[in-house]
Amino acid sequence: MAEHEFRRVKESQTTLKELMVPHYANFGGKVHGGVILSLMDKIAYTCAASHARGYCVTASIDSVDFLNSVEVGELLTLHASVNYVGRSSMEVGIKVVSEDFHNGIVKPTNTSYFTMVAVDEETRKPTSVPGLVLEDDVEIKRFLEGMMRRKFKQHHREEMRQARAELDIERELPKLDGQNCKLSRS
Ligand SMILES: CC(C)(COP(=O)(O)OP(=O)(O)OC[C@H]1O[C@@H](n2cnc3c(N)ncnc32)[C@H](O)[C@@H]1OP(=O)(O)O)[C@@H](O)C(=O)NCCC(=O)NCCS
Repeated sequence: MAEHEFRRVKESQTTLKELMVPHYANFGGKVHGGVILSLMDKIAYTCAASHARGYCVTASIDSVDFLNSVEVGELLTLHASVNYVGRSSMEVGIKVVSEDFHNGIVKPTNTSYFTMVAVDEETRKPTSVPGLVLEDDVEIKRFLEGMMRRKFKQHHREEMRQARAELDIERELPKLDGQNCKLSRS
């Protein structure tokens, strides 16, 4: 049997730069959040596929909080790195910053974690990926944090599934008091 392969984090680290052109703006003149999400998905794929050396799909995206708006004319830079790998899944950490050329100010835009899964192109089934060689404390910390996020997410999914199965509308109605809603059921 072939020996399990390991790859260095640096081998798949990816940077993507994109100028924010007028075509990306929304009615308010700022860059659409969807443009940034699409670039994040693109870099997550590039980074994961380059670690796996094969086809991958996006399985899930952690919450994305936009810290600052992005203006047309700014340069967006995305950095991606594989933080954690399981059997077939990879957590890719993505950091996005935007830079205003006129004053040289660099603003953080957001950070997010994408779970990408390597998939066999013929069977469409998840397939195993190489492990990670962790070369310094930052890489060890990111791997451990990725393990924690995976565990918390599995926990949260299970808790939510159970809470939904047990949800009793009549019993929970008093909780709507003081909420921004009114009942109008017939
Ligand atoms: C992601 C996908 C391949 C998982 O397939 P599956 O049959 O459920 O596979 P498994 O249950 O064996 O899980 C495979 C791996 O994916 C991970 N995974 C599956 N669903 C996940 C989710 N929602 N979030 C995070 N990880 C997930 C599992 O933890 C497992 O990781 P591991 O191999 O490292 O232990 C499948 O759900 C899929 O193809 N989804 C559509 C993806 C897609 O089209 N994305 C683009 C949207 S346009």
